Amino acid sequence: MSETAQLKIGDKTYDLPVIEGTEGEKAIDISKLRDQSGYVTLDIGYKNTGATKSAITFLDGEVGILKYRGYSIEQLAENSSFIEVAYLLIYGNLPTAEQLQAFEFEISHHTLVHEDMKKFFDGFPSGSHPMGQLSSLIGALAAFNPASLKPGLTAEEVNLEIIKLIAKMSTIVSWIYKKSLGHPVIYPRNKLDYVTNFMYMTFGQRTEDTEIDPVVVSAMNKLLILHADHEQNCSTSTVRIVGSSDANLYASISAGISALWGPLHGGANQAVVEMLQQIKEDGGDTDKWIAKAKDKNDPFRLMGFGHRVYKNFDPRAKIIKKACDDILEKLGINDETLEIAKKLEEVALNDPYFVERKLYPNVDFYSGIIYTALGFPTDMFTVLFALGRLPGWIAQWKEMKANKEPIGRPRQVYVGETNREYTDIKKR
Ligand code: ACO
Repeated sequence: MSETAQLKIGDKTYDLPVIEGTEGEKAIDISKLRDQSGYVTLDIGYKNTGATKSAITFLDGEVGILKYRGYSIEQLAENSSFIEVAYLLIYGNLPTAEQLQAFEFEISHHTLVHEDMKKFFDGFPSGSHPMGQLSSLIGALAAFNPASLKPGLTAEEVNLEIIKLIAKMSTIVSWIYKKSLGHPVIYPRNKLDYVTNFMYMTFGQRTEDTEIDPVVVSAMNKLLILHADHEQNCSTSTVRIVGSSDANLYASISAGISALWGPLHGGANQAVVEMLQQIKEDGGDTDKWIAKAKDKNDPFRLMGFGHRVYKNFDPRAKIIKKACDDILEKLGINDETLEIAKKLEEVALNDPYFVERKLYPNVDFYSGIIYTALGFPTDMFTVLFALGRLPGWIAQWKEMKANKEPIGRPRQVYVGETNREYTDIKKR
């Protein structure tokens, strides 16, 4: 017999179905509660609310487990490529060699972006934030691609938009970087794999013989894989909720990019490196900065520390810390901020303030150091996060559509003024 939970309000008892996920997670289904009782549930920040049933990503924050479609993040980061993981997230299974080849081939044939988009892109002032540029450009792709707005797209047509978006995203991200330098954009070389092509368009010269270091490509693949999905976080929930209004794919992803921008979410990777830089310039006294983070009268927070769901450790942070050591060694870079980061981590992990609140380094604590080593400026970090998160957003958008989920529309508990009489402006 299926389990039920009972809720007693006054002298009435309501039976609520208990739902169990495939990893044993349990949830109380309150979707009919308001109709039955007139009550809504209140959960500011959705800290304990499941908004959907999803088969894409599983994470257990208490023990530090992250899996995409049932595969551990450790195995994927070690063995897979970003584009293979994108396929896995979007289509549900690891591709065969032929499927992967066909996927790469199709993507590589959509990397060009409409030349008229450049006119609009040129209008951004130099120095404008890359995330503002990215969200506008991705939203604009729909306007430059009217076929994507046709009502009732078939599954094949939707799939074509997905392919186009993955392809054009890497070109657009590289444009944004080139613009920040005042350099001309580099057109894609479609013989290269996705990540190598991206690094070529970003760091290559306009010559045919530019080589991109495989060490750099491998580090970039790993970073993108680690960011590829993270179930119902702020930006992903944004993508799903915007998509639930039947907004097109580009509009939904553009909204997700805006949500990711915030320093409490994807913007944290930029904030971490700026913080480490600040600590370095201040003399590197980590104890002083730990004390500031603990001081409730000081707005300073240890960026890259703490996570809404990981309360033991963030498995991505472990992989990234190791990758960070490896890449810096391979590239022969001695980065003082890495030493400061490690010292901060050590002090914080032994400090009761952080231990009691279960605050551990998150994915962003070390990723910025790798991006710096690869040559990216700090304000590009969140854009790179978006590039990595794109397949996850797409998979979640696609799943939301396939499930025919209703438009997202939370309730509220109104706490404002009740009945007031309008008074003439002269009498106020
Ligand atoms: N430094 C110092 N104290 C912290 C930190 C931190 N980084 N994070 C949380 N705390 C403290 C809070 O002050 C609070 O203390 P209190 O209970 O005494 O009031 C307690 O820990 C709980 O913090 P909340 O903000 O309630 O936790 P929440 O789950 O809402 O927030 C968040 C999680 C936003 C990630 C938070 O830990 C934070 O701001 N971290 C820094 C920013 C960051 O690294 N964000 C990236 C997240 S990962 C990602 O988006 C990819």
